[in-house]
Amino acid sequence: MAKNNPDNATIQADASPTKDFFISMLVKDIELTRSILDLIDNSVDGARRLKGNGSFKGLKIVISATPSAFTITDNCGGIDRQLAEEYAFRFGRPIGMTTVKHSVGQFGVGMKRALFKLGTHFKVESTAATGSFLIDVDVAAWKKAEGWKFTLEPTAQKLVPPTGTKITVDALHVSVSEDFGLETFQARLKRELEAAHTESIKNGLSISLNSVQLDAREPMLLRSKRLKPVFRESTHGKPSEKRVKVRLYAGVGRAADPKADPREAGWYIYCNGRLVLGHDQTQVTGWGTSSIPKYHNQFSKFRGFVYFDCDDAAKLPWNTTKTGVDAESAIYRTVQREMVTVARPVIDFLNNLDRETKADPSAAPLTRDLERAKLVGLKQVRACQVFVGPTSRVVVKKVTNISYSRPPELVERVKKRLRVHTLREVGEGTFDYYYRYEIKGK
Ligand SMILES: Nc1ncnc2c1ncn2[C@@H]1O[C@H](COP(=O)(O)OP(=O)(O)OP(=O)(O)O)[C@@H](O)[C@H]1O
Ligand SMILES: [Mg+2]
Repeated sequence: MAKNNPDNATIQADASPTKDFFISMLVKDIELTRSILDLIDNSVDGARRLKGNGSFKGLKIVISATPSAFTITDNCGGIDRQLAEEYAFRFGRPIGMTTVKHSVGQFGVGMKRALFKLGTHFKVESTAATGSFLIDVDVAAWKKAEGWKFTLEPTAQKLVPPTGTKITVDALHVSVSEDFGLETFQARLKRELEAAHTESIKNGLSISLNSVQLDAREPMLLRSKRLKPVFRESTHGKPSEKRVKVRLYAGVGRAADPKADPREAGWYIYCNGRLVLGHDQTQVTGWGTSSIPKYHNQFSKFRGFVYFDCDDAAKLPWNTTKTGVDAESAIYRTVQREMVTVARPVIDFLNNLDRETKADPSAAPLTRDLERAKLVGLKQVRACQVFVGPTSRVVVKKVTNISYSRPPELVERVKKRLRVHTLREVGEGTFDYYYRYEIKGK
């Protein structure tokens, strides 16, 4: 260093980004389905800009994802020319940009990241009330060219009547094209889109994928006279700033196909109506921490839903890919403590249910209570600070404790075969097995 700078003068280190960082690196941190979601998020924000809190009826997003091309077309207001010139194609959101209230967009990268993730040639055509434009980018040529501009061509006629945006990516990356040809991928994409934007679909927004209309996957909880889910509301932040409203629901659910219960169990977290974390069964949502056990299938009916809403998207605890929460944020930490508190009585109820089923499945009042309960949408859940479950009728038969010791490697094998997690379950499982075949069945 001293050799090149004999005068010991201050020198500047080059910290400018490379285009390759955005084209090849940034896209590695996000899955293809999640990247496509970013484009739908933008159309949804367009719908919000147009309609505010009103109904989205009449607005639609049409997506086509085939091995040869990807297109997404919406009639959600289009991209304003000035916004396109000064902001929409920048990497990162500049300070001072006017924002949409209660938006899903926050970071200023989603669209560009998705375009690079999908392929090597893209077009963005848009018509807003202020005019139309077209951007046509060959990624390899843009990478070689000097500067960071995309050319915005004004278009004479309105391309997407009346106002809206059409994005086309042909020249798909090989892996993307292969994925689009797979039925399993298409089914997953459909599922993720439906889950992520349930709220907008319910609000009248029509979304189709390869000509198939998407349905809202409405969160539901079981409710009856003896079974009351939690519903708490709170507000966070300084009164002088935009505050974050939090709605928290927890209780028990029932998948349409009972085999799907273990897959659907866990916490669901939404920020400004967009699902960022689904059926989470990890420490991020409190499982396996001091007061909540690690998730296992005994809890497959557990369902929790948390909604963070704020006019200022920057206050929300999501990560930049919107695939999870910012677990370090103060607001998430506060709410996570509350999630653990409200989950405990639900876990106790599910433990009782499990004990009851194991003791004698033919006389199981809690199971019958659950069967009688109705699945209701969250709008129908009334405020209730603590989960109420029908605990009082648990049949507590007189029981005797048995204790014995066996070599750990044998116990581990039995545990695996029984598909259980605790020593207690090993003991109960082996006893029940003996009783069923050697005593009851004789
Ligand atoms: N379909 C669309 N309709 C209207 N405006 C759009 C559309 N697609 C993109 N835009 C505009 O382009 C901008 C940039 O989109 P991009 O997804 O890159 O960033 P963002 O949405 O602001 O933030 P984030 O990275 O959090 O998604 C958006 O803020 C929006 O103004
Ligand atoms: Mg976006």
